[in-house]
Amino acid sequence: MSKLAARGRMINGMSVLVYEDSKALYSDAIRPLFGMLRNGNGHPTFGFATGGTFLPFYRAVVSEFGRNGDSFRKARAFNLDEYWRIDPKNPGSYAFYMHSNLYSHIDMGPGMAQLPRGNAEDPRAEARGYEGRIRKAGDVDLQYLGIGRNGHIGFNEPGTSFRSKTHLVKLSPRTREANSQYFSNGDMPRKALTMGINTILRSREIVLIATGEEKSAAVMKALQGPVSPRTPASALRLHSRATFMLDEEAASMLRR
Ligand code: F6R
Repeated sequence: MSKLAARGRMINGMSVLVYEDSKALYSDAIRPLFGMLRNGNGHPTFGFATGGTFLPFYRAVVSEFGRNGDSFRKARAFNLDEYWRIDPKNPGSYAFYMHSNLYSHIDMGPGMAQLPRGNAEDPRAEARGYEGRIRKAGDVDLQYLGIGRNGHIGFNEPGTSFRSKTHLVKLSPRTREANSQYFSNGDMPRKALTMGINTILRSREIVLIATGEEKSAAVMKALQGPVSPRTPASALRLHSRATFMLDEEAASMLRR
């Protein structure tokens, strides 16, 4: 990652990069992904996130793909989460988000990009099946994460066990409020399927991106508060290859 654009430091064993310029942040964030496409193990498995933080990320991926013609044909991807009781054609679904922001623009092979199925008949069976498919793929090589204002990763809300696998969750009022902008007339689902914290921690490398002042308290708690299920993102301190990529606003509450 470019050393010039970012100020880097270690905080409680975690590598933290702070960017003045969000364009530089996103162009660094896509680097490990294209690195794996170019020279990795040949068949990388990516873990993808959605949400506002990742819109500029996928724009950067699509534009780099257009420039260099790197192929995703040998890659595989699993998304972190999907709402429960949602059709993939619903514009608020993460399946729709991934298709319109990434998959319709790149050459990932059919069936190689998966999300938990938000319209599966039995959510518990779907969660078990999804976890099984991730394991069968050899777990995720490079997992991207955002962070919720309450410190969630994926939809692992405060209080979730660090041993959790893919499971059905009830969304917290705070998360529902933050995400209701993507749904019209109170359609916002109450539940979601999410990779668990254990699923995430099994990834070989993790990059968490946070931008904006509204994430600063969660970032501070994750990096400098206790490692505790009360702040799910603090679990990343148990991982040996996790990096936080932050803009100045998201880093603004970090103590020296
Ligand atoms: C999305 C996800 C969530 C978001 C988080 C931040 O797949 O798993 O954890 O990353 O809620 O969302 P934004 O970026 O919209 O603030």
